[in-house]
Amino acid sequence: MAELINGKEIAGQIRDEVKGTVAALSVRGIRVTLAVVLVGEDPASQVYVRNKEKACEYCGIVSRRITLPEQTPQEELLKVVKDLNEDPSVNGILVQLPLPRHLDADEVIRAISPLKDVDGFHPQSVGALSIGLPGFTSCTPAGIIELLHRSGIKTDGRECVIVGRSNIVGKPMGMLMLRENATVTIAHSHTKNLQEVTRRADILITAIGKPKFFTRDYVKEGACVIDCGMDRDENGKLCGDVDFADAEPVAGAITPVPGGVGPMTVAMLMKNCVDSIVLQRS
Ligand code: GUN
Repeated sequence: MAELINGKEIAGQIRDEVKGTVAALSVRGIRVTLAVVLVGEDPASQVYVRNKEKACEYCGIVSRRITLPEQTPQEELLKVVKDLNEDPSVNGILVQLPLPRHLDADEVIRAISPLKDVDGFHPQSVGALSIGLPGFTSCTPAGIIELLHRSGIKTDGRECVIVGRSNIVGKPMGMLMLRENATVTIAHSHTKNLQEVTRRADILITAIGKPKFFTRDYVKEGACVIDCGMDRDENGKLCGDVDFADAEPVAGAITPVPGGVGPMTVAMLMKNCVDSIVLQRS
């Protein structure tokens, strides 16, 4: 039986650590503030934003929500971001994605000051990560590194296969695993003989958004399996990219869905918010 990597518990530890840091900063008269910009009324985005606000509340971080109507023009959104960049009482800025279709998300992300880019999506943050300079790291991959460290999973010299090459998960994950001295392969939808590739992995990280795609046939005996999927199975039940029941007996360690990678994303956002204080003062 595989060791279960409990993301819910580890995320709780990180939130408590952040809460401690926020309290210590408060004694020195420093307040941490996150501005969250939500455009339109996408129900899923509303839930995500509410969860981020709840986490802020728990940690003692001030959250400021800016709600804009669905039809907001690009220029107006850019002006909101510019004002937040210039507002010294705001430490972190997050524009909830996806944006309505008429808006250019890339341009909006580029408009966020890299010193306040707590999502880690700005090209400067991505570049800094790739060459080892200080900057923010995308929350989900940063959370996976915490899961590995805190579960005592060795990375040095080990084979890591990441499936999925998104800007938010796959690519930054590759950079972070390189920094951890792993040998990194990023596989994707054009990869030939995927099973052969994933079966090389000591650490297999899946982020493709296909429910229960990775059966035991994709997993090497004893491998650590990290599932970033947030999918729905045939009954509409939340599941991951990994067929947990099938793969768990061959894995050495595995994250469940829910309760694995998911809770880490918001916890790392909180951590990025406190880290923003250091970045802004250095
Ligand atoms: N939409 C879904 N996940 C995220 C995230 O991590 N950050 C932002 N800004 N939008 C999202």
